[in-house]
Amino acid sequence: MSTLYHVLGAKQFDRQLLDRLFDSAKEMEQVAVRGGIQRYPNKIMSTLFFEASTRTRFSFESAMHRLGGRVIGTENASQFSSAIKGETLEDMIRIISGYSDLIVMRHTDIGAAKRAAAVSGVPVINAGDGSGEHPTQALLDLYTIQKEFGGIDGLHIAMIGDLTYGRTVHSLSYLLANYRDVRISFISPDNVQIPSYVKQYLDEKKVAYEETSDLESLAGSADVFYQTRIQKERFPSVEEYSKAEGKYIIDRKLVDTMKRNALILHPLPRAGEIHTEVDDDPRAAYFRQAQNGLYIRMALIEKCFGDQDQ
Ligand code: CP
Repeated sequence: MSTLYHVLGAKQFDRQLLDRLFDSAKEMEQVAVRGGIQRYPNKIMSTLFFEASTRTRFSFESAMHRLGGRVIGTENASQFSSAIKGETLEDMIRIISGYSDLIVMRHTDIGAAKRAAAVSGVPVINAGDGSGEHPTQALLDLYTIQKEFGGIDGLHIAMIGDLTYGRTVHSLSYLLANYRDVRISFISPDNVQIPSYVKQYLDEKKVAYEETSDLESLAGSADVFYQTRIQKERFPSVEEYSKAEGKYIIDRKLVDTMKRNALILHPLPRAGEIHTEVDDDPRAAYFRQAQNGLYIRMALIEKCFGDQDQ
């Protein structure tokens, strides 16, 4: 029996499912250390990426290989698939779901993963839909926080940077609503604040949050600093981008004011908003975080397939 089918958004995960997923990810760490297992030798995963990716695509493909499965797919799908000839997303998904057992898709448009799932004969995993959501990134973010702190309840999480277009922030906010006494501080330039629909969800779930522009005043009190890139490619104009760019930088001076056990995370890639001088600090966890993506994605694939194809 599988416990997941499509993975489209973070709101579909409750605490029980998160706990089970994180237990599986922990087991997958051991599987990966041993080089993998032949768990799904008859399964094929398609990766269909309309936007650039390093971590998400490579870690999903590595995860499938570590589980003994096979991978087909394309990057730059708007150029390298028949999308360039005018094929619709729906037609493409109908075809690809006949060739594979799981589709991992990144798309430029909010809601694209839902559209794909509506016509797919196999599970669809949302690997990022424009500025909408990036649920699997948020799952690995949360897994990292749990691993590093031993739990998530009661933590104060600062989310910094481009909170409008930063899809990982949206998904992570939704996931955090599953935990007790979590407090979120949203720190952003004025033109890329956290969207009202995310705040509405947090209000419904009674999650404590605040919006501020003052990172320095929080530096000594937050437990987690979730830094994000200003997403240049999503701004309507260069002028709007330049209003947001370069406002919040995590550098040595700021890190020196953080708690000794604070955690600095970033979904990556970074574009100057965390200085490399911070990389050797034990609080800088973003490379450990990216590594956890492999284990979470192995666990997600297993949850989508369940007991099939043993
Ligand atoms: N964090 C993340 O989604 O990275 P990529 O864009 O490289 O996949």
